[in-house]
Amino acid sequence: MSESEENSACVAESRDSDGEPKQTSQSEDGETGEKHSAIVASHYNKLEDRGLVARKKSNIYFMRNFNNWIKSCTIEKYTALVKGKTTLGSPFRVLDMCCGKGGDLIKWSNASVTHLICTDIAQVSLEQCENRFNTMYQRERDFQRKPKVEFFAADATLQQLRTKYHDPSIKLHLVSCQFAFHYSFESFKQADCMMKNAAECLDEGFYFIGTIPDANELMKRQRRAMSDTFGNDIYRIQFLCDTDNPPLFGAKYNFQLDDVVDCPEFLVHFPTFEKLALKHGLRLVEKKRFEELFDEHSSRRQGLLEKMQALETYPPPPNARFNAGEQPKEPEQYKHAEEFGRQMSSHHQFRVGTLSHQEWEAATLYLFFAFQKMKTTYDAKGRPVYS
Ligand SMILES: C[S@@+](CC[C@H](N)C(=O)[O-])C[C@H]1O[C@@H](n2cnc3c(N)ncnc32)[C@H](O)[C@@H]1O
Repeated sequence: MSESEENSACVAESRDSDGEPKQTSQSEDGETGEKHSAIVASHYNKLEDRGLVARKKSNIYFMRNFNNWIKSCTIEKYTALVKGKTTLGSPFRVLDMCCGKGGDLIKWSNASVTHLICTDIAQVSLEQCENRFNTMYQRERDFQRKPKVEFFAADATLQQLRTKYHDPSIKLHLVSCQFAFHYSFESFKQADCMMKNAAECLDEGFYFIGTIPDANELMKRQRRAMSDTFGNDIYRIQFLCDTDNPPLFGAKYNFQLDDVVDCPEFLVHFPTFEKLALKHGLRLVEKKRFEELFDEHSSRRQGLLEKMQALETYPPPPNARFNAGEQPKEPEQYKHAEEFGRQMSSHHQFRVGTLSHQEWEAATLYLFFAFQKMKTTYDAKGRPVYS
């Protein structure tokens, strides 16, 4: 990879004849990155910010809480690592790349972040994120803890984020990209740009963390189903590429999740992802599937599991009332819980925390990754050398 290619990964904004910002990038299948990005942005912009009552009725209420719990545990872990490397009371600067509606704002508040940059391609989501942030710090006692904050809309696969920060020389301690990096795997150029955005302002020794669908798991399920379309009542994947020989970039599939997501996504070939990260000075320090994270954190963070309602109580407590519109539980979705209960208790009565089989299948499509920024020096030609 030559220096000029590296520099071309993300574009600084150009203007079209109307003076509107304009960026395009050609992917390997000849389609423009801008086109898919527009579909994704429009999809997320249209998603309503539902209230808690509506969310509780959703078929994926517990799975979403479970995903949130996974994010909480991993954010907590890397926050502790950051704090272990900095002196007490020093700044904690975070970039939440592809922040959406601000699902992680409470986590950043709990982590006592002092400077938070939130960016997403979907302008409407970003506005909801900003409103949520302002509501969180409305009360005076919270106002004292309010971090410095920046919100801006950008396509992280096409635009250089650094040029949009209040201080482009900022040194970040943590970059987080949750459930989003896979959108960039449409083309090398987009993935390279997003990785550059993740890496370039990270201070030496600090971390880039995130979650993506596990391409190996997706391919395994495709093989098992012997079909390019597979899933269950909660999620559905339809491959739109050659599954016998998927390309490294542009391996497209459509992902549907309940009535929440219906979007084109791209497989992330992990060895390629890791290589791309290395090119930008990021060394892989952790890669775990969600079920591994559950095994690792569930006993220590059981209290948080309960607080976040990340698991469903099965059988439901006798006084539990179903919300209007909620489907009664299908026993075959909880056979594993029945089995576990029988093993754990000699009594007929037992109660466990679990997810329905279908929610578990959807949750275990994902993996967590963490990279650490390496020491950067420059060679005689001014090219970065990482060690
Ligand atoms: C599944 S949502 C996750 C939101 C948030 N990170 C979370 O965990 O709650 C994916 C987000 O990625 C954003 N996104 C997708 N492609 C993007 C791009 N090219 N640049 C910036 N944001 C993008 C979407 O707008 C959406 O908000």
